[in-house]
Amino acid sequence: MGLPRVRLLQIGDLHLPSAARTERSVDQKDRTFSVELRNVISRQPIKTVFKRIYRMCEAEEIDGILLMGDMTDFGKLDGYRAGAAYVANALQLGKGRRNALTFCGIVPGNHDIDRNLAKKPSMTAKFGPLNAALSAVGLEQIPVEQSLIRHVGPSDATCAVVLMNSCWGCGAVEYIPAEFRDSVGPAIEAAIAAGDPKVLSAYYDRQFDTPAFSDNSIAHLVETAGKMPREEQLVVVAHHNLLPQRMTRLAPYTELVNSGAVRASLMEAGRPILYLHGHIHTDPVEVLSVPGGDALVCISAPAAEDGFNIIEGSVAKIGGSQR
Ligand SMILES: [Fe+2]
Repeated sequence: MGLPRVRLLQIGDLHLPSAARTERSVDQKDRTFSVELRNVISRQPIKTVFKRIYRMCEAEEIDGILLMGDMTDFGKLDGYRAGAAYVANALQLGKGRRNALTFCGIVPGNHDIDRNLAKKPSMTAKFGPLNAALSAVGLEQIPVEQSLIRHVGPSDATCAVVLMNSCWGCGAVEYIPAEFRDSVGPAIEAAIAAGDPKVLSAYYDRQFDTPAFSDNSIAHLVETAGKMPREEQLVVVAHHNLLPQRMTRLAPYTELVNSGAVRASLMEAGRPILYLHGHIHTDPVEVLSVPGGDALVCISAPAAEDGFNIIEGSVAKIGGSQR
């Protein structure tokens, strides 16, 4: 009598507009190649990866797909819509499609945030078009102010995926300290408005930004974890790394503003937890714990065009004894 096994695919930052343009290794105008050969060797890496994932969905080898955010580049909403459609069609996920029963969890990334919408008084405005794009193709919503919790795996498996929004603070001046807000906020806007693409890239890629979880989502996580039986395996998914990475980043806000609060909550949850993320991929596995406490294992997905992680393991049975 084995324990139920759960198998999830962790897929990293898609950046579909740029990923779809890059890495063609053949000049399409070069007539010395046959069309067939050209098609084979000019295949974009992202398509190869997606074909592999599609085959795994078709063969029902996986219980769920987790997308770590950054579907688009530089907050371009048309890129996000195209990305959502690509995921739904290429993998046949979402309502009415062939692999509709495969769970597909998505979280937002900093590149998915339109800066103009982030300036609106409502903290939720910047997420509206992202969820509309997902709805339009029948995919599940991203978490906004609260976490989304879904059971994954076989029906007798004690495994829950908690999708969290680490971009609640992205582009929001509320997270710039009040003493500097009136000067720093407009200075960032003026630098970007000057139109130098390098400045825009520096903003998104090196994070003159304020990624943060909402207080509500942290409270919700603590409350939810507190109610779950200890044997329930929690898989928390968010875009940003919990720890600063080895890459030196010279910017006032380089990492999650309040990652410490989430890190402490997860380490004090009284259970081992997997924290899956994308964003920076240089330190792929980090294990955190307080003395005598359970491990919080953080795993970074590779960039999507480089492949994906398979997260697999046995979990306790619902109603069964402890592992
Ligand atoms: Fe990112």
